[in-house]
Amino acid sequence: MIEKIQTLLSEVQTLKAGDEKEWEALRLRYMSKKGALNELMNDFRNVPAEQKREVGMRINELKTAVQDKLNELKQALAVKEEDHSGIDLTRTPYPVRVGTRHPLTIVKNEIIDIFSRLGFSMAEGPEVEDDWHVFGSMNFADDHPARDMQDTFFIEQRPDIVLRTHTSSVQSRVMETAEPPIRVICPGRVYRNEAISARAHCFFHQVEGLYIDKDVSFTDLKQVLLTFAREMFGADTKIRLRPSYFPFTEPSAEMDISCNICGGKGCGFCKHTGWVEILGCGMVDPNVLDANGIDSKTYKGYAFGMGVERITNLKYQVKDLRLFSENDVRFLDEFMAAH
Ligand code: PHE
Repeated sequence: MIEKIQTLLSEVQTLKAGDEKEWEALRLRYMSKKGALNELMNDFRNVPAEQKREVGMRINELKTAVQDKLNELKQALAVKEEDHSGIDLTRTPYPVRVGTRHPLTIVKNEIIDIFSRLGFSMAEGPEVEDDWHVFGSMNFADDHPARDMQDTFFIEQRPDIVLRTHTSSVQSRVMETAEPPIRVICPGRVYRNEAISARAHCFFHQVEGLYIDKDVSFTDLKQVLLTFAREMFGADTKIRLRPSYFPFTEPSAEMDISCNICGGKGCGFCKHTGWVEILGCGMVDPNVLDANGIDSKTYKGYAFGMGVERITNLKYQVKDLRLFSENDVRFLDEFMAAH
């Protein structure tokens, strides 16, 4: 009997199953009622008492070997089923629809990137704002005609709540809470009540900047803006500042860059002047510092603000502002390579 078990044991080691059917046949051959193991158990009754211990152990050994082998074969079959030979896993799925970033996002990120390298951090605030943060704290007197400069959307029945017309409101919120030195840029969407056309829209995007410290001069402002212009439009870019007016800055200026389309020679885009306007800026009016809880005797600051659409227009020559908000994929797809 021991010999028979021994033979079965070595037989089990050589078993093979090519598919489920063959595996099942093996299971029946060894483990079923009429299978080899049960047969051995039947014979076991006739084993003399003094050999029972040894034979019993051998039978158990065989049983474990059979079970192990069957499990092993079963696993091998499962792996075989998952075999993907014949499928090319390296092939690119088709059609591929990779999303693109919106051109305004691409340009906004670039602006943020340039200023963050100059040490500015980012601040954001609400689009639905109170009158104080948009106008009052920014030195617009109640009856100041400058309020008309920015055609404001008011919330019905709440004349004190507006859709912000510039992100200067975020500057105000930062000044309220932070201690100088303050160096922030405020990107965001702003609203103005204008008829929608190729050149104007009722909403657009701005990035404004604010720097407040003890010794801040107009020269600092000019140098930062020159660096920005060169980073954004190329190392040959020139800037010029023209006197202007904003209620929140004194002195105030508007900045032009040499037309990046004709290189300053004069073309249709720059109306043959060689210059295009890109932003407003100035030294923060002391009234604004005081209104926002910063002592204007100790601190000075500069601020600037630009339209993201305008910068994008210069970079990519988008002729019609409406394209930015229509979500036409034919337009958006053109920026596939930009980022
Ligand atoms: N807030 C101004 C605007 O919306 C831009 C600006 C910001 C000008 C800061 C000067 C300084 O037109």
